[in-house]
Amino acid sequence: MTPFRDYAGPQDLRAMQALTQHAWSLRSPFHIGNLAWERFEHVGRDPEWPTRLWLDGGAVLAWGWIQAGGHLYFHIDPGRPDLFDVVLAWFETTATGEILTTVVLDNDPDGLARLAGRGYRALGDDHPFALKMSRSLEDLPPIVLPDGFRALSMAQVQNPERRALAHRNAWSRIAGREADPPGRSRVTGESYRQVMAAFPYRPDLDWVIEAPDGRLAANACLWLDTVHGTGLFEPVGTDADFRRMGLAQAVCLSGLHALKAAGARLALVGPRGDEGYPAPRALYGGLGFTAYARDIVHARKRLD
Ligand SMILES: CC(C)(COP(=O)(O)OP(=O)(O)OC[C@H]1O[C@@H](n2cnc3c(N)ncnc32)[C@H](O)[C@@H]1OP(=O)(O)O)[C@@H](O)C(=O)NCCC(=O)NCCS
Repeated sequence: MTPFRDYAGPQDLRAMQALTQHAWSLRSPFHIGNLAWERFEHVGRDPEWPTRLWLDGGAVLAWGWIQAGGHLYFHIDPGRPDLFDVVLAWFETTATGEILTTVVLDNDPDGLARLAGRGYRALGDDHPFALKMSRSLEDLPPIVLPDGFRALSMAQVQNPERRALAHRNAWSRIAGREADPPGRSRVTGESYRQVMAAFPYRPDLDWVIEAPDGRLAANACLWLDTVHGTGLFEPVGTDADFRRMGLAQAVCLSGLHALKAAGARLALVGPRGDEGYPAPRALYGGLGFTAYARDIVHARKRLD
């Protein structure tokens, strides 16, 4: 049996990222940046998320992370396909939800076949799914800002409380539904501090647009993988008081220029691909991103 241990803290996220970085390809659902952001954007979520690492000595061969009772994030070393059934069996006996879901990309025929072999079926396009989009860092257009607005990186702003407030003001109202009552994001100064402490966060790749009144009106964080020369946007947002002024475009472009200066060759982003939430996809398309793959969400009933 392959040795395993259950997640015990940030050092294990770093070990999971080591596998995800080593095994990353355009068929990977995850990038080291997703893992850092999703694990640390809120404080105190670990007890909700059964997470297990399978190991060979110090090296992680596979990891699984169960979200919201019944959704599996996982990554398996391509050299150890035998661990697929080990990870899935753990998921199916540990998850508490009635319906179990997970994702593979449409460009991964082996992954699709393995899930089908365990009784999972692909959900239709009326179910939310994500696109994988990329853009080379050649030919970046210049950054255009309305008068009085300026682009700053967190190397200049430095303040996690201000940055967290910018995030909350962006994510409290979704695109196109600005008139709805605001929701509440759980991102705080404390949680943003743990994001900033995570590998591979770099303040020079985390950008905001400051409005003339001092509010941080738009924000975009990029996560650089120096091994593959890729940078992932996670997350991007504009305060609902400042929408459709080109600020998301400007903050993303500020990040893309910095990413290029940091030596990356390819930018990545994963907006929704379904018709239920088209605005982010349109934003990135306008910035020159094109889709290279999409999630196929799979589901099966839990067997008791
Ligand atoms: C999506 C979001 C970042 C757009 O911010 P923004 O500053 O208003 O975007 P911009 O003004 O730079 O718009 C750039 C392009 O995005 C697209 N876009 C933006 N908002 C849109 C909307 N409500 N409906 C359709 N397309 C939209 C358009 O193509 C737009 O170009 P155009 O104005 O020339 O038509 C913002 O609505 C937001 O923060 N939403 C909540 C968080 C979120 O969804 N983040 C993205 C997750 S991947």
